[in-house]
Amino acid sequence: MTAELTVNQDRLWQSLMDMGQIGALPGGGCCRTALSFEDKRGRDLFVGWCKDAGCTVSIDQAGNIYARRRGRKNSRPAVATGSHLDTQPHGGKFDGIYGVLAGLEVVRSLNDAGVETAAPIDVIVWTNEEGVRFSPPLAGSSVFAGICDIETLHDSETTDGTTVLQDLQSIGYLGPEQAGGRKLQCFVEAHIEQGPILEAEGKTIGIVTRIQGIRWLRVTLTGQDAHAGTTPMNRRKDALLGAANMISEINAIAIAEDQETRLTVGRLDVEPNSGATVPGRVFFNCDLRHPESATLNRLDEKMEHAMRNIADTFGLQITIDRPINVAPLEFAKELIDTIREAADTLGYANMDMLSGAGHDAMNVAHRVPSAMIFVPCKDGISHNEAESATPADLAAGAHTLLRTLVAQADIAP
Ligand code: HGY
Ligand code: MN
Ligand code: MN
Repeated sequence: MTAELTVNQDRLWQSLMDMGQIGALPGGGCCRTALSFEDKRGRDLFVGWCKDAGCTVSIDQAGNIYARRRGRKNSRPAVATGSHLDTQPHGGKFDGIYGVLAGLEVVRSLNDAGVETAAPIDVIVWTNEEGVRFSPPLAGSSVFAGICDIETLHDSETTDGTTVLQDLQSIGYLGPEQAGGRKLQCFVEAHIEQGPILEAEGKTIGIVTRIQGIRWLRVTLTGQDAHAGTTPMNRRKDALLGAANMISEINAIAIAEDQETRLTVGRLDVEPNSGATVPGRVFFNCDLRHPESATLNRLDEKMEHAMRNIADTFGLQITIDRPINVAPLEFAKELIDTIREAADTLGYANMDMLSGAGHDAMNVAHRVPSAMIFVPCKDGISHNEAESATPADLAAGAHTLLRTLVAQADIAP
C-alpha cells in the first residue's frame, strides 16, 4: 500500500510543545489534571485542531472526545486511536498527550496525501486516565468498556469537593452521546514507554503484547484525635503511626515476592494534620501491580491480612476498598501482527514488550481488539517534569500508527 504515506515530524513536535504550554510548570512539565480549567483549555485546543483538520467532534456523557475523520463507508465501525490529555500533578508533556496528537498527526497526514479510507478514523481523548483529582483512574475508558457505570463516575467526588458531573458541566464537556454506545472496529494507542527498556535495547518501536494488572487498595484508618502533650504513649490510637507500620510492612511483602512486583503508596492524607494533635484519621492509597493475576490476588490477600493485624495492634478501625482492579491483559494478536509488519516495512528496529504502566487500551480491549505502540523516552523517566522523547522517535511511532490504522481502515476502492 501507500509506502509514500508519511507523517510530519516537525508538525507533531510543534503540537506537543503547544499543548505543553497549557498548565506549564517551571521545570518543563505540565499540571493539567482531569476536568480542571487547564484540562478544559487543552481539550479546547485539541478540538479546534480537529475541526481545522475537517473532523466532526462528538462528546459522550463521560466527557470522552471523539474526533472523526469520515471514511467512504461511514456505516463501518471506526478504526480508533487516542489516549489522554490529563496529566499527573508533576507530569510531563508526552504521557498520554503523545497518543492523542499522534492520532491527530495521522489525520493531518492523510489529509495532506488526499487519502480516503473506507472506514472512518476516530481520534479519542479518554477522560481522567491519571486519577489524580478523582477515581477511578482510566475513568473514561472504564465507562466506555462497561467496567464502571456512568452514574458512579458522575457521583465521584473530586479533591476540590465537587462532583465529576458538576465539573463536566462547568468545563463544557458533558456530552449527549451514550458512553460506550459507539461501535469501533479496533483501538490502537501510541504512548511513550515510560520505562527504560527500548532505550537500553536500542529499539525505536515497542510492540506491546501484554499489560500488567493494576489494583488500588484505598485504606482508611480511624483512631482518635488526642492532645500531643497530655496523652501517654500507651493510651493513643495514632492512625498515622499505624499507617507508617503498614506501609513499611506491605513494602516488605512486595520486596519478598519477586522482581516483577510493584507497590507504591503515593498518597497519604492525615487528619487533622496539626502538629499538636495525635492524628485520628489517615487515608492512603496502595498501587499494586503484577503481570500475573494469581500473584496479584495472593499479594492483595497477604497485604490486607498484615494491615488488619497492625490495625488491631494500634487500636484502629480499618476499611479497604478497591476503586481500580484491572486484570493483566493480552492484546489482540492480529493487531500486534499488523503493527509489527508496519514497523518492519518502515525499517524501525522493534521488539515485543510488556507494559508496566496502565493504559486506556487495557479497558477498551474488553470491547474491541486493541493494541499499543511504544516509543522510547529519555532515561525511562515518566510521571516527572523531566519526561522527554526525541522528535524522530515520536514521528516513527506516529508513522507506524498511520500505517497500522490505514491497514485496518482499508484504502482500496
Ligand atoms: O498509573 C499508570 O500506569 C498510568 O500512567 N496512569
Ligand atoms: Mn500517566
Ligand atoms: Mn498515559
